[in-house]
Amino acid sequence: MRHLMSPLDFTTEELDELFDLAADIEIDPEKYAHVCDGKILATAFYEPSTRTRLSFEAAMLRLGGKVIGFSDAGSSSAAKGESVSDTIKVISQYADICAMRHPKEGAAFVAASKSEIPVINAGDGGHQHPTQTLADLMTIRSMHGKLDGFKIGLCGDLKFGRTVHSLINALVRYDDISFVFISPPELRVPDYITDMLKEKNIPYQEVIKLEDVIADLDMLYMTRVQKERFFNEEDYVRLKDFYILTKEKMDLASKDMLVLHPLPRVNEISVEVDEDPRACYFKQVKYGMYVRMALIMTLLEIDTEAG
Ligand code: NCD
Repeated sequence: MRHLMSPLDFTTEELDELFDLAADIEIDPEKYAHVCDGKILATAFYEPSTRTRLSFEAAMLRLGGKVIGFSDAGSSSAAKGESVSDTIKVISQYADICAMRHPKEGAAFVAASKSEIPVINAGDGGHQHPTQTLADLMTIRSMHGKLDGFKIGLCGDLKFGRTVHSLINALVRYDDISFVFISPPELRVPDYITDMLKEKNIPYQEVIKLEDVIADLDMLYMTRVQKERFFNEEDYVRLKDFYILTKEKMDLASKDMLVLHPLPRVNEISVEVDEDPRACYFKQVKYGMYVRMALIMTLLEIDTEAG
């Protein structure tokens, strides 16, 4: 039985197969409309989410399966003091696969170790968010045509942003990628990441101003300042509008630079940028659903030729 805790749980070849399957689902959704008939996905969300939870639910429903679950810890037995280990043992009796989001780093690992069904980490604290990374990689592969040979700028909250940590981890396995980390000093990418890049001899630079580097980027990954992970409101208020991607800043960028964002957006991309053909963040949402469909099928070992 396989789980998905980190994007590195799949080899790059396996990821390619997953993206090929997701691309085929996009082209011919009818072929996959009943491959999960009779199967149940549980969404165990201990932390707020719209996109990720609905994306999993839509993915399972589009495969013909059904969905059960809870969307905040307050409405689950966690409010009565039940442990994640016990909850997953219970869910294992009801469902065939579980997507779990939890505010604590490592919660999905604990769940996976006790589970009788595949567990997908749908975000654990500030740590990892592997299915967002799958959506990001699928978007890059579709829009850029390949997963190597580009310079990517990651901008915003690089300290607490789990999507950033997961994406960097996943990208270091591809050739000829360089990173530009754009953040205020307080929200720099954690040292364990820069240490890993140094060890692997992967080029990166750290800057504060987006305008200084935007012209050199092939891709810009914007992120929101992660309010819920701040210890005090004052710091959040001071940093929340540090970056705003505007039409003027987009004018400085190359005509092919892709703009990605895991969403939700707060103020960091002004809405006028949405009309720009380089803006890919709503496409990312669509790819996210197809890739989750492919992931559910893969973890449930459903024959990809069925249907
Ligand atoms: C991200 C997350 O939950 O980490 N959202 C998402 O799942 N697409 C990004 C965020 O909340 O900023």
